[in-house]
Amino acid sequence: MTYKTLKDFDLNGKTVLLRADLNVPVQDGKVTDTTRIDRVKPTIDYLRTQNCKVIILSHYGRPKGQENAEFSLSFLPPVLRDQWGVLVGFGTDSTEDIKLLENLRFNAGEEANDLEYAKTLASLGDIFVNDAFSAAHRAHASTQKITELMPSCAGLSMEAELIALTNALEAPKKPVVAIVGGAKISTKLSVLNNLVKKVDYLVLGGGMANTFLFAKGAPVGLSLCEKDMKEECLSIEQKAKDAGCEIILPVDRIAILEFKANADHEVIGIDTIADDQESVDIGPETIKNIEGILEQAKTVLWNGPMGVFEMKPFDNGTNALAKKVATLTKSGSLLSVAGGGDTVSALDNAGAVEDFSYISTAGGAFLEWIEGKELPGVIALQNAKAKAA
Ligand code: 3PG
Repeated sequence: MTYKTLKDFDLNGKTVLLRADLNVPVQDGKVTDTTRIDRVKPTIDYLRTQNCKVIILSHYGRPKGQENAEFSLSFLPPVLRDQWGVLVGFGTDSTEDIKLLENLRFNAGEEANDLEYAKTLASLGDIFVNDAFSAAHRAHASTQKITELMPSCAGLSMEAELIALTNALEAPKKPVVAIVGGAKISTKLSVLNNLVKKVDYLVLGGGMANTFLFAKGAPVGLSLCEKDMKEECLSIEQKAKDAGCEIILPVDRIAILEFKANADHEVIGIDTIADDQESVDIGPETIKNIEGILEQAKTVLWNGPMGVFEMKPFDNGTNALAKKVATLTKSGSLLSVAGGGDTVSALDNAGAVEDFSYISTAGGAFLEWIEGKELPGVIALQNAKAKAA
């Protein structure tokens, strides 16, 4: 994959349009996780060393092309200042060297990938830098159309993300293990269909594993299970077999009668579950099995929890595997990449985030990548390089 990077341009004194993803989680007016902001800092720092003026472009929420105070980005400059250690103005009229524009999605042209809107944005700067991998699955004016109008390149965070994901899935060291969990197989059919072609082991947990077990004839009691997905499971199994990928399912599980934290629970096998029991986590034998596979692995790709990690102690399976991956990564035997949905909070809960090789900040974009889809924002950067060459 080739695209231009910051080092390909003489940026000195230029005005850079920097696409960031500042669609950050906010509760009671406070940013609850600054990871997306922190990931942009290296690019901001680099642009400052080049005496650039920086205009930051971002969306926030889904205001659907309408101005809406609820989705204004005006609250963010002080947070950016605190995280980046530099003054950040708000709007084109502000006098600071670094300024954040209002939510791009207030203009319907953004999501429509509109040429005129992209021209308006492009007229504000000399060079476009995309540092928003997590928005790269959107073909919007500020991720796609703008690259047709001005010199364009990847920022440092986009570059790091693309390198990590390529190392994990496109050109990985083998054996490769994908750990995929979460509630519903129906939301991850394309992910599973793509992964079985690419990895050596596909470890399944969460509600998805129940659906696979059900498809193979195991009882599931009241466990989360999509019984109408039986045929899809069997077809994925066949594809895995054809591709030489082994699907690893639980061999035991943790069952409860009452769905609450610290509920009475027991370890049960795969063939036995009472009609009124539900399974909420993988069991100790399953953990041991998967740990053995991880010890042989060179690359791990992780998406989704193994059980109901939000409810103690049913985070045990997720925690044990996350710690194993973290330890192996730290020892240098494993490259580990995780991302998508609530994966990061599950790994954070396990205290394992710091030791993974790379944690993606992307939700939808990460999933589309592991589905094997082309991401418009990434393709746009590749095309921009091809055009310039
Ligand atoms: C995300 O949070 O995944 C990105 O910011 C994309 O947001 P969107 O799903 O509203 O396009």
